Amino acid sequence: MTNPVIDHLGSRRSVKADNLTDPGPDQQQLETILRIASRVPDHKKLTPWRFIVIAGSERAALGERLAHITAENEPEASDVRLEIERNRFLRSPVTIAVVSHTIYHPAVPEWEQILSAGAACMNLVHAAHALGFAAHWLTEWYTYDESARHAVGLNPKERIAGFIHIGTAKEPPQERDRPDLDTIVSYYDSTAQ
Ligand SMILES: Cc1cc2nc3c(=O)[nH]c(=O)nc-3n(C[C@H](O)[C@H](O)[C@H](O)COP(=O)(O)O)c2cc1C
Repeated sequence: MTNPVIDHLGSRRSVKADNLTDPGPDQQQLETILRIASRVPDHKKLTPWRFIVIAGSERAALGERLAHITAENEPEASDVRLEIERNRFLRSPVTIAVVSHTIYHPAVPEWEQILSAGAACMNLVHAAHALGFAAHWLTEWYTYDESARHAVGLNPKERIAGFIHIGTAKEPPQERDRPDLDTIVSYYDSTAQ
């Protein structure tokens, strides 16, 4: 008996941002994707994440900022390199930055709040796939560069959990080897501890 949800989970593959094209999600689909992304386990309802949608002409504007930061960080950067930075967000119709922020909470260690942001990223990817789109969860250098994080709109206490590029796959992705369950699963045995 087939189960469409299991089929969905079992067939999803990332598609490289370079292999994404139009169409991307329309506004209604985008809101569906964002709603699913916000429906993740979140201990004590701290909502330790938020989303920034990078779409339309803002994709080129942010790329221009990245090129500028690159030129400042690396004065010897070639024109080809600067062009790559300019085009970072033009690779896909839309990108959603998942922003992680944590607070002190006596019952919710920071680790759990960060994990919840990762779960939001994964839900974004799954929701995009379920609507027939493809996605790529990237971080790349600008996740870890303070000026770039500022350009994206983060405050100094926030971090990027991922940039989720979403679009239509130019071609179907090839299968990727997955770990053999034998290598990652064990059954707890109290006599062995
Ligand atoms: C937090 C995180 C950051 C990632 N950043 C990058 C990245 O910057 N560049 C990249 O090529 N893949 C990156 N990946 C890997 C891809 O998102 C993806 O896992 C990989 O292409 C395999 O695709 P799959 O979803 O089909 O297994 C990252 C994954 C995670 C979880």
